[in-house]
Amino acid sequence: MKKYSISGQTALITGASSGIGRACAELFASQGVHLVITARRIDRLEALAEKLSTTYKIKVTPIQLDVQKKEEVAAAFEFLKKEKIAIDILVNNAGLALSTDKLQDAKLENWDVMIDTNVKGLLYVTKAALDSMIERNSGHIINLGSIAGQGCYAGGNVYSMTKHAVKALSTSLRLDLQGTKIRVSEVAPGAVETEFSEVRWDDKEKAKKFYQGFAPLVAEDIADLVLYCATRPLHVNISEITVYPQAQGSLTDIYREGQSTLKNVHNQK
Ligand SMILES: NC(=O)c1ccc[n+]([C@@H]2O[C@H](COP(=O)([O-])OP(=O)(O)OC[C@H]3O[C@@H](n4cnc5c(N)ncnc54)[C@H](OP(=O)(O)O)[C@@H]3O)[C@@H](O)[C@H]2O)c1
Repeated sequence: MKKYSISGQTALITGASSGIGRACAELFASQGVHLVITARRIDRLEALAEKLSTTYKIKVTPIQLDVQKKEEVAAAFEFLKKEKIAIDILVNNAGLALSTDKLQDAKLENWDVMIDTNVKGLLYVTKAALDSMIERNSGHIINLGSIAGQGCYAGGNVYSMTKHAVKALSTSLRLDLQGTKIRVSEVAPGAVETEFSEVRWDDKEKAKKFYQGFAPLVAEDIADLVLYCATRPLHVNISEITVYPQAQGSLTDIYREGQSTLKNVHNQK
């Protein structure tokens, strides 16, 4: 199958200050794609923009953006319109899990942050990006789902719920966009070693331990799949890719060397 070249296009990547988003930015830049990179940690984005624009001679626009705040999303897209930057590919990657507390023990603030970021933030950015995609009748939206959106585990509750929502939204959007040329894909990874677990547990040691005894996926593995979705010929829409580390047999089973298969691996209290 002939690949579709995205060189010269512009991709907006949310959550590009770390992990999968950052790896997507690096890989897309290496393919000659101009970038709009967003996250809350602007210092990291500025350093990345400097590196990628110098190395690959592409235009990189860093924007500080908390996707939970709809006014910030609106302002970012107003700015892009003023700068005449149209988004061809949107990678909805910004997201997080906070704690593995059981529902009955959970902090309500954590629920708000996960729902506002993973679901509402993704919706705000998608709607804003769609305006100009619909006008141009072209574009691609690639959402970061998770295997947590395909099943449940103890302590996963609200995070899992938000990723089920990403899956439902990806499918719904594909249906709503029928009759346009816009594509919608979802990439759903298993365990990827990024800052994800550190953020989840606010505990570097515990996060490090989680990835020991097996080879987890790395951010570059996921970026590779995001690029794969984006570079299929225009009549091909990858609806969903699920990817596990080889050692992960299911959402709740990771085989670690020297240990029997652990159940409920996320719930390591
Ligand atoms: N790691 C895994 O095992 C795994 C598995 C399946 C799915 N995923 C999904 O993959 C995506 C990326 O996660 P990751 O593993 O790369 O984790 P990560 O290294 O912690 O990166 C998360 C990114 O999201 C950004 N972010 C978080 N809250 C935000 C907000 N309110 N507004 C804007 N940006 C925000 C962070 O930037 P700032 O903090 O600078 O804002 C950061 O750049 C997430 O959607 C996650 O659910 C991860």
